[in-house]
Amino acid sequence: MTTALITGGAGFIGSHVADRLVAEGWVVHVVDNLATGKAAQVPERARFHQLDIRDGDAARLVADVKPDALVHLAAQMDVRKSVAEPVFDAETNIVGTLNLLEAVRRHSPRTRVVFSSTGGAIYGDATTPPNRETFEKNPESPYAAAKLAVETYLAYYARIHGLEYAALRYGNVYGPRQDPHGEAGVVAIFCGRLLNGQPLTVFGDGRQTRDYVYVGDVVDATFRAAVQRLPAAGLLDARAFNVGTGVATDVLQLAEELARAAGVEPHVVHAPERPGEQRTSYLDVRKAREQLGWQPHTSLRDGLAASYEWFAQQADAALRSPARSA
Ligand SMILES: NC(=O)c1ccc[n+]([C@@H]2O[C@H](COP(=O)([O-])OP(=O)(O)OC[C@H]3O[C@@H](n4cnc5c(N)ncnc54)[C@H](O)[C@@H]3O)[C@@H](O)[C@H]2O)c1
Repeated sequence: MTTALITGGAGFIGSHVADRLVAEGWVVHVVDNLATGKAAQVPERARFHQLDIRDGDAARLVADVKPDALVHLAAQMDVRKSVAEPVFDAETNIVGTLNLLEAVRRHSPRTRVVFSSTGGAIYGDATTPPNRETFEKNPESPYAAAKLAVETYLAYYARIHGLEYAALRYGNVYGPRQDPHGEAGVVAIFCGRLLNGQPLTVFGDGRQTRDYVYVGDVVDATFRAAVQRLPAAGLLDARAFNVGTGVATDVLQLAEELARAAGVEPHVVHAPERPGEQRTSYLDVRKAREQLGWQPHTSLRDGLAASYEWFAQQADAALRSPARSA
């Protein structure tokens, strides 16, 4: 039996990864402190451990379970919070990760670590996209600096201790169960506003671009990174893979597509540009195609329609819930 331990498995991406690994017949352990995750999102056939990766118990679980794959998705993932509280961000995103890596090094050296890094935030504005894995990195937030720091540790652990790992630099991930505070939070926010009949607020001219990638495609890349043969490790970018679509989409296009999914005309209002907001960001995903055999299959239109549908169902269920009608 193949065993996985998924940190952050009650969250947006993690719960979808858990669904997939359960469906593949794996034994799945989920570790999550429910900071933003929801226990109800953990698949029934997974074993849920409500633990914090900053504490020793999560590391002890890694030592006990000795999973084939440690899919490490638990994180403080709110970029703005990382700016306001960089120490808290580093405690979770760097020190919490090191707790797990030390458990792997000492007790389970054959475990493959699959780490959720960021392609949306790690390269900064000094490159000309589409960004390749080897491009210069200039993290523009403590959140992105922490992700890059972890990638540096991972390369070190591989070089010195033979750690098996892959670092996936996800684009802006959207889809059912996503949180409005995540890197593609705008999709969740726009869905909520459309469902309430409110206008869509766009900061600045709305021409800032991102690489929006559907969660189902991200799950597939994550699965492949957990099971496939990988190139030699040791240098910083050797085991890093961009996971996006290779397509730049701006906020106005998103507004238009989501309004289409909702069956209404887009009603956009502009607010002042947000200082420090990255202008252009999208990813070159050839390496994941060549080395993981992965490519995204979900078009933006289909992915946004599925996302809107999910948010609409949630709103409907909330209206019907006894708590609301009581
Ligand atoms: N969503 C995106 O667009 C995106 C893009 C790039 C990278 N990522 C990364 O992917 C991973 C998953 O992101 P997501 O969007 O699913 O976010 P999410 O918030 O839904 O998932 C993170 C999970 O980690 C849990 N968690 C937080 N702190 C913890 C701690 N100290 N101990 C144990 N569990 C803890 C949360 O409760 C949550 O369930 C994160 O590492 C994030 O940085 C996400």
